[in-house]
Amino acid sequence: MTPTRVSERAAAIPAFEVMDTVRAARERDETVRTAESSLPETCHLEVGQPAAGPPAVALRAAQAAMAAPHGYTDSLGMPELRSRIAEFHRERHGTEVDPERVVITSGASAGCVLALAALADPGDAVVVTEPGYPCYANTARVLGLEVVTARVDSSTGYRLTPDVLDAAPLDAGPAALVVASPANPTGSVLTRSDLADLHRWCEDRGTTMVVDEIYHGTSSERLPSATGFPDAVVMQSFSKYFCMTGWRLGWMVVPEQLVRPVERLSQNLYLAPPTLSQWGALAALGATRELDELATSYRSNAKILEDVLRSHGVVDIAPAEGAFYVWADLGEFGDSTELCSRWLRDIGVAATPGHDFDGHRGHRFVRFSVAGDAEMINEAAARLGRWFTTAPRDPFGSEQQ
Ligand SMILES: Cc1ncc(COP(=O)(O)O)c(C=O)c1O
Repeated sequence: MTPTRVSERAAAIPAFEVMDTVRAARERDETVRTAESSLPETCHLEVGQPAAGPPAVALRAAQAAMAAPHGYTDSLGMPELRSRIAEFHRERHGTEVDPERVVITSGASAGCVLALAALADPGDAVVVTEPGYPCYANTARVLGLEVVTARVDSSTGYRLTPDVLDAAPLDAGPAALVVASPANPTGSVLTRSDLADLHRWCEDRGTTMVVDEIYHGTSSERLPSATGFPDAVVMQSFSKYFCMTGWRLGWMVVPEQLVRPVERLSQNLYLAPPTLSQWGALAALGATRELDELATSYRSNAKILEDVLRSHGVVDIAPAEGAFYVWADLGEFGDSTELCSRWLRDIGVAATPGHDFDGHRGHRFVRFSVAGDAEMINEAAARLGRWFTTAPRDPFGSEQQ
């Protein structure tokens, strides 16, 4: 038998720890379900997935589409969906987007592969934030790009600024800057002037600004969109605001010059985004009234968790202005990977350790997803509150800032 060769690239890519944590929590759920178990139900705060299901109109539209032919669509997506998304940007953000610049993707994940592959060649530099969503950097590395990290912290409310970028170890203008607003895991939000500053920084260096707006709609306010810049790439998805994570559908708005290169990449890498999901998504775009209401619950869930953390002396908590995460420094209680496995085992609370999101300080941080229902968040807060009252504080934190 020929030994299977694993590429250096595949051997080097780290796991996306959120998904490993999800598996560990599911395994616990299976144990809980057995007749002999007396363990409490797991509180799921590990995965960034809304507890609310997809809008009813999306389900009905996908069901109706079952009767229609559902072969491949155009690689760039169904024309009616691309036009409807352009309209969505006009309604939500007041930005004019030519439907020709809208590219439907298999989730923002595929959007990230397509954008980076279209913008950068092996060896080119791409800037990402730290803490930040780890798959940007890992995707860039798989594509042979050089990843440069810009470190954000509480001094700027975890927002990326030109000063932070200037402090990053860069020799020349990077091919792309990837930034999320609202951000995962910190929930920080870029204002209109923040976006303009970052755009200027990019323009001065011949860098394409790539803004991930997947968490738009999860904050109480309407946020400014980078679709106002015709030379920016904007990534979006039906996974978060639209509560359609498993449908694997997203979109990008790309500069005109990138449409055909992205189309050629998409034709070769994915052929086309999923057809049934596109019909569902087309209907979901009309369900904004019910979806907007969920943003309020994310904010109140975040507050429940922040309150319990603060009452036990946790001070460094990112602002959680958008998205549905609480990112908190729990270094005082020990290493976050160890802490999260202890919580899962001892009190049935699943949360995600931070080192995936931040290679430098993530061992101190935990990310809690508050996209679940309020009952679960309250239960998790109560269990954590009881745990904190008896938890030994670990001086390890102050040594390893
Ligand atoms: C910031 C960010 N971008 C992209 C993604 C990938 O999303 P999708 O489900 O659309 O592939 C996620 C998923 O959690 C995310 O948090």
